[in-house]
Amino acid sequence: MSRLRWGLLSTARINERFIDAVRRSDRSELVAVASRDVQRAKAYANRHDIYSSYGTYEELVKAPEVDAVYVSLPNHLHAEWAMRLSEAGKHVFCEKPLALTVANVDGMAQAAQQAGVVLQEASATRFHRQTSDIAEIISSGRLGRILFCHATFEFTLPAAADIRLNADMGGGALWDVGCYPVAFFQAVLRANPISAYARAVTGRTGVDLAFSGLLGYESGTAVQFTVSMATPMARQARIVGEQGSLELDQPWLTNTGAVATVRQQLMRSTAGAGTFGDDPDQLEEATWDYGLIDAYFDEVRGFEKLVLDGEQSPYPLSDSRMNVQVITALHESARTGREVLIDPSSITNE
Ligand SMILES: NC(=O)c1ccc[n+]([C@@H]2O[C@H](COP(=O)([O-])OP(=O)(O)OC[C@H]3O[C@@H](n4cnc5c(N)ncnc54)[C@H](OP(=O)(O)O)[C@@H]3O)[C@@H](O)[C@H]2O)c1
Repeated sequence: MSRLRWGLLSTARINERFIDAVRRSDRSELVAVASRDVQRAKAYANRHDIYSSYGTYEELVKAPEVDAVYVSLPNHLHAEWAMRLSEAGKHVFCEKPLALTVANVDGMAQAAQQAGVVLQEASATRFHRQTSDIAEIISSGRLGRILFCHATFEFTLPAAADIRLNADMGGGALWDVGCYPVAFFQAVLRANPISAYARAVTGRTGVDLAFSGLLGYESGTAVQFTVSMATPMARQARIVGEQGSLELDQPWLTNTGAVATVRQQLMRSTAGAGTFGDDPDQLEEATWDYGLIDAYFDEVRGFEKLVLDGEQSPYPLSDSRMNVQVITALHESARTGREVLIDPSSITNE
């Protein structure tokens, strides 16, 4: 196989970014779309110039012209349909969060393994070069021991009816955008947290509209993040070590066409200069950018390598599994008001 023939499972809004990315790649081709509604499927296929359209998801599962399926369903449907696709021999690129329980991640992983297909959680953030560069900088020791990190992903939900407001669909700010800092810090710190502490503000529909989390690591590092669907747009991340820090204005890399800039500050010498160690001249500053963000293209290229070249994923299902476990622990902490310990060897949410 030299080209991946893609199908879209649903007519979700996020497809727009994925379609653009697939169309820019010479190793991918978009051939089919499925919707719960046959008219919607046809109209969507016409609008986006897609050859096949199906009025049920089952038909896409069986479609012989499709090699790989992009699952852009609401969160609570990811597990069921990823498993059905795997069992039918389709490679699966599933939107974040991969699933809502660790047991579901395990079921999905098992189905993919038994069928010999690739199952990968989609992640524009992690497949972009900025994220792997940050991981390299941290592991090089340039910043010294990492003591703490901060991050935020906030926006205002534009519509009153949105899957994100539905608790039964895996709605809420933590599942929707909290998964970004959780996955990002796993990728750049190359470590998993051992504790979670959280506070949430819940809206009328019962989902968290704003969520603050504190993740603790064995090294003593603390990651503090805030996410929200009810405050003005804000995105930022800061990683602070004993010798320097990094500040990212586009840590999640979901803003296609924006410029992602990194600001690095390093101490010129190990001793802090100035009366109270507060002399600004002691810091050497460097700024660089990654040009216009095209991270959905990066994730498509990443998935192609897994299927067409047989490469191992840099972000395997064990990472997705851990992130589901961390999010579950954060929810439990917000619910109980207590810190929750995370044991990577146990299943805690079923
Ligand atoms: N990676 C990213 O940057 C990013 C950004 C946004 C969203 N996402 C993820 O992508 C997924 C979709 O998000 P979205 O905001 O694009 O979704 P959306 O626009 O609300 O669309 C969801 C689609 O799922 C289908 N669906 C099936 N059962 C449904 C139900 N009971 N209620 C509503 N829709 C149902 C519908 O398609 P049909 O009617 O055609 O069947 C609908 O168009 C989520 O998992 C989300 O976390 C990722």
